[in-house]
Amino acid sequence: MQSSRIASVLARASSRAAAVARPAARRNLSSAADAAKGKVKEAAKTAEAAAEAAKGKAREAAKTVEGAASSAAGAAKSAAGGGGGGGGGGVILFGLLAGAGGYYAYTQGMLDSVLGKSDKAAEASSGDAKPAGKAPVPAYAAKVATAVESLIDDDDNRGPLLVRLAWHSSGTYAKGGSPAGGSDGARMRFSPEAKDGANAGLEKARALLEPIKKAHPDISYADLYTYAGAVAIEHMGGPHIPFRFGRSDFRSEAEIASAKAAVASGRLPDAAQGASHIRDVFYRMGFNDQEIVALSGAHTLGRCHTDRSGFEGPWSFAPTTMSNQYFDLLNKEIEKPGYWTVRKWDGPKQYKDPTGELMMLPTDMALIEDDKFRPYVQLYAKDEAAFFKDFAAAFATLLHLGVDEAKLGETA
Ligand code: HEM
Repeated sequence: MQSSRIASVLARASSRAAAVARPAARRNLSSAADAAKGKVKEAAKTAEAAAEAAKGKAREAAKTVEGAASSAAGAAKSAAGGGGGGGGGGVILFGLLAGAGGYYAYTQGMLDSVLGKSDKAAEASSGDAKPAGKAPVPAYAAKVATAVESLIDDDDNRGPLLVRLAWHSSGTYAKGGSPAGGSDGARMRFSPEAKDGANAGLEKARALLEPIKKAHPDISYADLYTYAGAVAIEHMGGPHIPFRFGRSDFRSEAEIASAKAAVASGRLPDAAQGASHIRDVFYRMGFNDQEIVALSGAHTLGRCHTDRSGFEGPWSFAPTTMSNQYFDLLNKEIEKPGYWTVRKWDGPKQYKDPTGELMMLPTDMALIEDDKFRPYVQLYAKDEAAFFKDFAAAFATLLHLGVDEAKLGETA
């Protein structure tokens, strides 16, 4: 146990280094105006590859972890020092769109392929030809990302909290529903979503982001609440989450009510339930079983708080590092039934591991009880790269649910 803990801590140090390297590499690419594009791209690629390699090594064994961590740190350093600063010009059009302040009618329907289409668009836009009508990634994006990263650096627990904010902002979506829900509008600032028991504790996350909104008033709250979650995932060592700006905000509870856009409580999942409830909630958003399991892997991060949900404790030994540890721990029950047992306490039903330090919710256990969910748990327990790839795709889809395609800009 001790050595796995040490490995977790060291792996985390390495993940952090990798996480620093990747956004730095990304920003260097986006601000290539004053540098030879090819060169920067090459440098970024090398830095990213080195960071990935170091991260992989670190997870192997405690023996090799130290060396890997220092090489990741080296990679991070060279990536950070390797290119020009943040910023980059020529993004005024987006400011006009986002700052217009008007609230546009929602169109229904999920984005078919946030990833596929927009990646191609991003590639195309690195040359002279820009696809018509799509706002470029706003100039403030890199600065907002840096500000979110430093919030997390000041207190690790904020990373998971910001991921939960992004998810609960988006997870009210109902395909074809009226109201549609989803992240557009940033309705969680107002009743009824602000008072929804499922969102308890998220007022802290919103308050944390307030100074960033003040410093960068052009970003909408709706973009900020979702983008912060995407940045947090990557900063905690997870995959890059493709993100498109362009959401707009409701300005008051009355405005929400008159647009008939208020989403009543009950759309977010109830942790005390089982597989059929999970399917009801996530199928409503348009997700399939594989995506449901991938998204659930976010529970490697963070913890339950008795004063928020009534449940208590973290799911993993490294709750501020994105990894596949959640699946690894669930998989132990498949390999050795009885690994997870019902905790005897005054609180709601939850499970504990043999150390008594970790927990699982009834909805987490449903992923191994259900025949269709279980194979994905086993897959992700074995293959972290597959988990990261599938998580990035599903989380990106989640963050864009219900946002009118016409409002969304290029992929960051
Ligand atoms: C069946 C689906 C889900 C249920 C029932 C559920 C339930 C919960 C509960 C009860 C908590 C504890 C809140 C607290 O007491 O602070 C929590 C935390 C969390 N959830 Fe979920 N969740 C689900 C899906 C997701 C998804 C899809 C994501 C993201 C993709 C996610 C990300 C998180 C994170 C990061 C935390 C930790 C927050 C913190 O540490 O402050 N969850 N979830």
